[in-house]
Amino acid sequence: MKRKKILALLKTGTPLENLLIKGWVRTRRDSKNFSFIEVNDGSCLKNMQIVVDESLPDYSDLKNLTTGSAVAVWGSLVPSQGGGQKWEVQATKMEIISLAPETFPLQKKRHSDEYLRTIAHLRPRTNKYGAIFRIRSELSWAIHQFFRDRGFRYIHTPVITGSDCEGAGELFRVTTLNPSMPIASNEKIDFSKDFFGKESNLTVSGQLSAEMFALSLGDVYTFGPTFRAENSNTSRHVAEFWMIEPEMAFCDLVGNMDLGEAFIKHLVGFIIENCSEDIDLFARFVDKTLMKTLENIISSEFLRIPYKEAIDILLGSKESFEYALAYGSDLQSEHERYLTEKHFKKPIIVYDYPKTIKPFYMRLNDDDETVGAMDILVPRIGELIGGSQREERLDVLEKRMAESGLSKENYWWYIDSRRYGTVPHSGFGLGFERMLMLVTGVSNIRDVIPFPRTPGNIDF
Ligand code: 4AD
Ligand code: MG
Repeated sequence: MKRKKILALLKTGTPLENLLIKGWVRTRRDSKNFSFIEVNDGSCLKNMQIVVDESLPDYSDLKNLTTGSAVAVWGSLVPSQGGGQKWEVQATKMEIISLAPETFPLQKKRHSDEYLRTIAHLRPRTNKYGAIFRIRSELSWAIHQFFRDRGFRYIHTPVITGSDCEGAGELFRVTTLNPSMPIASNEKIDFSKDFFGKESNLTVSGQLSAEMFALSLGDVYTFGPTFRAENSNTSRHVAEFWMIEPEMAFCDLVGNMDLGEAFIKHLVGFIIENCSEDIDLFARFVDKTLMKTLENIISSEFLRIPYKEAIDILLGSKESFEYALAYGSDLQSEHERYLTEKHFKKPIIVYDYPKTIKPFYMRLNDDDETVGAMDILVPRIGELIGGSQREERLDVLEKRMAESGLSKENYWWYIDSRRYGTVPHSGFGLGFERMLMLVTGVSNIRDVIPFPRTPGNIDF
């Protein structure tokens, strides 16, 4: 039985005899007539203390029991004599499932995150990473619950696509063509010979597909992996990340901001309420200001300011930024963090960005210069959400596509949606790993995803 279940049963007063516990040994301490074994079964942070009496058959085998070994223990839960825990398991039988050699890389001392990245296949066996990945699982369920409660439909958008939603050209190519085929420098690759008959890539966003379903089912969302070949080695970027993208028909930019704000607050509240044991570890050992940051997010009204105003604040600040700034330039992470962390000290929503720095699908404002974009910036992370109202007018969309150098032929189906029953609609993307960084206080994105993909790293 899992420790988590045992804890739940304890509360109901169920007698806890003849339990079977299976897990991995964290430590073993021998005293004169018995041994204490700390076993963790992965269901929650805390270990179970197993007391093995020397009268047990095979007691002598215990000497071999090393950290990392797997065991099965039969026994009853009894009040603990020691101070460390309320309950312990008095073993009546024990079986060693497998022995880990002394070279098991996770010994009792604290290991650095950098070292643990080199053994990413074992790091979920540590307290910290076990907690991260339990929270990751809980947060996934909370996301589905949030949308389901609001009547959103869950859409599975394709992972392999022929489009580049963000227009940034950061695409991972998908091909079955022989990579060693020699190509003359001036010759183009003949993609008609490729599997799909044209250039294909891994998706950078499910948005364009999701829009088709919002224009059919109303409110929808996708939640899946996305891929970007950005060659940036930052603590906030990975090449493969998960994104949640709601898309709402008959919804404008304000409605979009309202949903984004409610979504973030709901997820933070959910984690505080449902993952307290794991979150407590981060609040104590990873980021002492974590609870304050999270409570600030829940209780603050997210301030909404136009891009122009954000630039004015940044230009007027005394902060020395690494990247120079002017009207028309994109905000860098340092600018975003200054605004939300230092200037406003709470989450903010920046909207109406210049059209020149945003993708083709964003709705052009009446000034002809800006688009109905909105980014939600939060302390410690910077951009957590990027979204917009979509350009629903056929003629304006076609003009913007031409300006952005996109081929009409490739996006004929997207353009078609503006021909048949087009309506105002909006949506956004929330980076799942960045959300996890926010709720755990973990400062490197590589540490909140099971097996991070970054330039030069494809192990595991
Ligand atoms: O702002 P982005 O690029 O927006 C879109 O992709 C839109 N198509 C979403 C939409 O409107 N449906 O990305 C959305 C979010 C960012 O705010 C950030 O949190 C996360 O995705 N993100 C990344 N997370 C980790 N690694 C990367 N390389 C990321 N790039 C974006
Ligand atoms: Mg963005």
